[in-house]
Amino acid sequence: MTEYSDTFLASKKRSDAIRADLPEHPDKYIMLTGDRPTGRLHLGHYFGSIQHRVQYQNMGIQCYVLIADYQVITDRDTTEHIQDNVYNMVMDYLAAGIDPEKTPIYVHSAVPACNQLMLPFLSLVTEAELERNPTVKAEQEASGHALTGLLLTYPVHQACDILFCKGNIVPVGKDQLPHIELTRQIARRFNERYGKVFPEPEGILSDAIEIPGLDGRKMSKSYGNSIKLGDTPEQTAKLIKKSKTDSDRHITFDKENRPGVSALLTTAALCTGRTEEDIAAEIGDGGSGQLKKYVTESVNAFLAPHRERRAQFENDLDYVKDVLHEGNKKMNAIAEQTLGEVREAMGMVY
Ligand code: TRP
Repeated sequence: MTEYSDTFLASKKRSDAIRADLPEHPDKYIMLTGDRPTGRLHLGHYFGSIQHRVQYQNMGIQCYVLIADYQVITDRDTTEHIQDNVYNMVMDYLAAGIDPEKTPIYVHSAVPACNQLMLPFLSLVTEAELERNPTVKAEQEASGHALTGLLLTYPVHQACDILFCKGNIVPVGKDQLPHIELTRQIARRFNERYGKVFPEPEGILSDAIEIPGLDGRKMSKSYGNSIKLGDTPEQTAKLIKKSKTDSDRHITFDKENRPGVSALLTTAALCTGRTEEDIAAEIGDGGSGQLKKYVTESVNAFLAPHRERRAQFENDLDYVKDVLHEGNKKMNAIAEQTLGEVREAMGMVY
């Protein structure tokens, strides 16, 4: 049994209420989401977040998609491949159905006024608050580096990302809830000190299951267990083929004892809309060979239209750059507007 804290339960309750209201009052909401451009987007991103962004966009909610390039250097020493990663992310967003006419896609390094909020916001948090953020601690440990100033303060930077465009809903995984809590505190403290400028955003928790990587661990760029949206069908086949299963030929869904087999079943279930049990029963004594064949076909069939659309963007980098430039331009206008309100509220108008 998982123990949930009161803060989590309270967030979950507010999140459920908002989710029910979204289709009723889409115009009340501004949604900000983003990804770090540390590599290619994979199926975990697609099922865990990108497909929901597209749904929210199509519900008529104003969405903004941030490619968080400054966040790449929170826990690594290099910006190698960053431009390529950013362009490729744009391609995947577009192929997945993000419509840049409705939903600007932008990078935060190109929006200086957003980053400038960092100064007043840092004055609203204490060192102790930053230091007890569990996500920051976990990331610091995983990075094997000393805790840098940017890693310690990136949740504040994330508050800038959310608040400069007055985002009031942020789809998040459970591990990101402490960041949303901090953003709410920053908004509240700013408004109390200087007058109301910012909304207090809510984290929207989806009930999507965690998408396993091919080894049963979380699907992650760093574990090499992820099926990239932009891979070729052959690359996908190869990755699935070398995934680790077990020697029991009878296929069953048992996450605990058969992580490899079960991750494959979940992957196929997501791509086909069937249940894991159903697929397992069909394969029966066919062994992992037959399972892998089915998973490969399901994933490649599911991704075929995405990959076809993506190929068009791969051949039209100028268009991809235009999308980003337009997004940056729109977000700069919004950021300038908000920064103007902040200066006004703080009496910094000269
Ligand atoms: N932290 C997110 C990630 O790791 C990216 C991100 C940056 C973000 N700023 C944000 C997400 C603001 C939501 C809101 O992918």
